[in-house]
Amino acid sequence: MALESHQKIERNATLLLTLSFLVVTVGGIVEIAPLFYLENTIEDVDGMRPYSPLELAGREVFIREGCYNCHSQMIRPMRDEVERYGHYSLAAESQYDHPFQWGSKRTGPDLARVGGRYSDAWHVDHFTDPQSVVPESVMPAYAFLADNILRPTYIVDLMRTHRLVGVPYTDEMLEMAREDFIQQATDFGDPGVVDRYPGAQQRDFDGQPEVTEMDALIAYMQMLGTLVDFSTFTPDESR
Ligand code: HEC
Repeated sequence: MALESHQKIERNATLLLTLSFLVVTVGGIVEIAPLFYLENTIEDVDGMRPYSPLELAGREVFIREGCYNCHSQMIRPMRDEVERYGHYSLAAESQYDHPFQWGSKRTGPDLARVGGRYSDAWHVDHFTDPQSVVPESVMPAYAFLADNILRPTYIVDLMRTHRLVGVPYTDEMLEMAREDFIQQATDFGDPGVVDRYPGAQQRDFDGQPEVTEMDALIAYMQMLGTLVDFSTFTPDESR
């Protein structure tokens, strides 16, 4: 009986199309309508904060050099990825990324949780001459980054631009940006940058006194994926 009435639908193109359309519409509404009633589709996660000025400058170097052509920053919730790279990426972890660095092009490994995986010295060696630490590597060398002295000339403008698109930089952060930029890589007695950016790592990243693009890039590498404490994180299941 049920089969016979289904035959009617299958043999009548107009009826089939009308009913298919109805099914797709209902499905669409169920999926899409709730999004209009959520204030925010990104759940807040403890530990997330905007990038410190030096980290943000390192991120600019990352984008300028096109590192994203070979590296993604998004760990997918699949077993092979989670076993290799760590906890899958949360939406909140790229909430302050403009532009985001997701992607599926991986000539090299995903970098979403590379922070703390290697020493600063390893990064210096690796950027200077990748094959010296990973002989089979096809990654190009970026030795020149250590010679490029970085001054915080445009850092306030950059942070202002990020604030314009929603990154919650405070007036104090903008005011202190130049000092924080220099201090994170040179002056370890002043805790200001860590007060403003909890978890910021404050040290000489490239082993030479000037603040260089190498310092900024390594500061950025070393904080990637380190802000959320996954030993205490529980997903919000109510969403
Ligand atoms: C032509 C592709 C290519 C480009 C461009 C590239 N990389 Fe790589 N990268 C690789 C490959 C392949 C590896 C794995 C072998 C190795 O460790 O060198 C790698 C490894 C790495 C690692 C170690 C990751 C890990 O978990 O072992 C880091 C960090 C890294 N790259 C950062 C960068 C940064 C920063 C840039 C831009 C300045 C960059 N890469 C540009 C191909 C690339």
